[in-house]
Amino acid sequence: MIKKAIILAGGKGTRMSPLTKAVNKQLLPIYDKPLIFYPLSILMLSKIKDILIIVNKGQLNQYKKILPNGDNLGIKITYKEQNHPKGLPDAFLIGEKFINNQNVALILGDNFFYGQNLSSKLLECTKLKKGAKVILHKVIKPELYGVAKVNKTGTIKLLKEKPKKFISDLAITGLYFFDKKVVEYAKKLKPSKRKELEITDLLNIYCKKKQLKSDILGRGGAWLDTGSIEDFYKTSAFVSAIENRQGFKIACLEEISLNNRWITKKQILKSIEFYGKCEYSNYLRKFI
Ligand code: DAU
Repeated sequence: MIKKAIILAGGKGTRMSPLTKAVNKQLLPIYDKPLIFYPLSILMLSKIKDILIIVNKGQLNQYKKILPNGDNLGIKITYKEQNHPKGLPDAFLIGEKFINNQNVALILGDNFFYGQNLSSKLLECTKLKKGAKVILHKVIKPELYGVAKVNKTGTIKLLKEKPKKFISDLAITGLYFFDKKVVEYAKKLKPSKRKELEITDLLNIYCKKKQLKSDILGRGGAWLDTGSIEDFYKTSAFVSAIENRQGFKIACLEEISLNNRWITKKQILKSIEFYGKCEYSNYLRKFI
């Protein structure tokens, strides 16, 4: 079982400057909530309550204003700072103490997932005991992502980071499930040509041991990019279209907590007080 997870929400966000000069990308809005709400909601739907958020140096106070410690959500949030974006596997070095020799999930702070049956897929992934598991999604431009070639049983045969030559159109999304060996393996990694520790190198260690499994988020699901300003607006438009059509919010954290029975209606009242007079609070009012 996986009971702990890390959200990697650092990075300089240079592609979105000047927006990201004063505020971290994961605190910018995707329609009606900060981006970080979306990956956090994915972990909460996976029934993971113990969460470490790794943030860029200097941004801690900003994050704590919106997500103080998880009390309002019935979860435990702790923070660590990353001095410099050394690569995704750095999360396991920074988070070694937090991981405490247990299995752990990692989600990138800028990843957006949506789709029917997503929760049951996530719960299936958290059953992982040994090895590692990733979620794949078909994309038109695989060269922008880590990419995997799989066999019929979902075992990954080959993977590559941003391949120039086509090997598969299945992108490796930014949601990973690892066994407790991950810290030991992350310590063995050497920086790549672009001077970063690469997540694909880490996954390759599992792949070589035939311990890297995958699940596919099919065409009924969405995995959207928030890499550039254009992507930010497209993802916002997606959330707006769904929310304003159905009347349900995507990634309303208190709603998920209430459904998980982690908080009571009384705690929702506290959240309403915290957020103040706004549309999000109006939505929360429906639950009490
Ligand atoms: O989104 C999925 C993709 O994410 C995967 O398909 C790739 O295999 C994986 O390498 C990664 O690719 P990106 O090019 O999107 O990674 P990027 O460097 O943009 O980092 C993703 C997020 O993680 C970004 O919001 C910043 C944050 N980050 C990144 C690094 C390198 C950190 O917080 N710390 C870091 O050291």
